[in-house]
Amino acid sequence: MTRPEGPLLLDTLHDGVLTLTLNRPDKLNALDQPLVDALHSALSYYEPLVDIVRAVVICGAGGRAFAAGADIATLRNRNSGEALLAINAQLFDRVARFPAPTIAAVTGYALGGGCELALACDLRVAGESAQFGQPETGLGIIPAAGATSRLPQLVGMGRARELIFTGRLVGADEAAAMGLVNAVVPDAEVLSAAVEMAIQIAKNDGLATRLTKQALQLVEGNLEHQRRFANLAQGLCFDSPSKVARMDAFLARKAARRNSAAHLAQRHDSGEG
Ligand code: COA
Repeated sequence: MTRPEGPLLLDTLHDGVLTLTLNRPDKLNALDQPLVDALHSALSYYEPLVDIVRAVVICGAGGRAFAAGADIATLRNRNSGEALLAINAQLFDRVARFPAPTIAAVTGYALGGGCELALACDLRVAGESAQFGQPETGLGIIPAAGATSRLPQLVGMGRARELIFTGRLVGADEAAAMGLVNAVVPDAEVLSAAVEMAIQIAKNDGLATRLTKQALQLVEGNLEHQRRFANLAQGLCFDSPSKVARMDAFLARKAARRNSAAHLAQRHDSGEG
């Protein structure tokens, strides 16, 4: 059984395993509003099908990234009022609450919101190229979509502080050593390894698995107050001139590179240089 595929999110369902593929590879699967909407739409379609969807794998198209974060061009133009809508946080909480267990299959970059999406999944399988990181403070904002709560739970408060404050990227082996990922496999095997794990989960009793997931979430505690604080803090950051300047700098670097690549191609075509 499959739902009609949209261009931004591909979905397949076999043997009780739903695979969702973020499909914006030219932008390293950065999460813009249409992709966020596509994920909501898929989740609302599949959430009630508890007897059919027994495990979920989320991956990114293109191999270079699981997701390189929230779309910076979109964030650049959001103000504090829009930040208070907690668009990504609500999406990732919905992923976390999905009735069946979820597995992030990560190759390449899982940064910012991309890392937070992986953290919202129950399990993570990484390819050797995987790189995890929370670079938000370098962009003048905070990781408000789950990293300040889910990362410490996975890797401990000391490591979470270091990763969030420095924004440094963590490779697959280091991520495994700190408990951030459950398994590391060659890139070419990431999806099949995640699906294999999902099939193993799907073979177990559906009701028992769903209730176990809920029991485990209760151990994680009620993070409502923490979330509200993170959301308010994000609202403050979104109106700061420094956030705008830092995001403009990223976008300008990328535009300059595109222009110089286009310029070089033009010179090459006209036989110059
Ligand atoms: N938002 C919007 N666009 C993004 C993006 C993001 N988070 N991450 C990557 N892209 C785009 C790039 O602008 C580029 O598009 P362009 O070719 O139209 O300019 C395309 O994806 C490919 O990325 P590129 O930067 O060319 O790849 P790279 O190998 O040189 O660098 C990264 C890869 C991940 C290091 C770099 O893209 C990056 O730093 N991205 C932002 C990561 C981030 O800060 N995420 C958190 C956001 S809160």
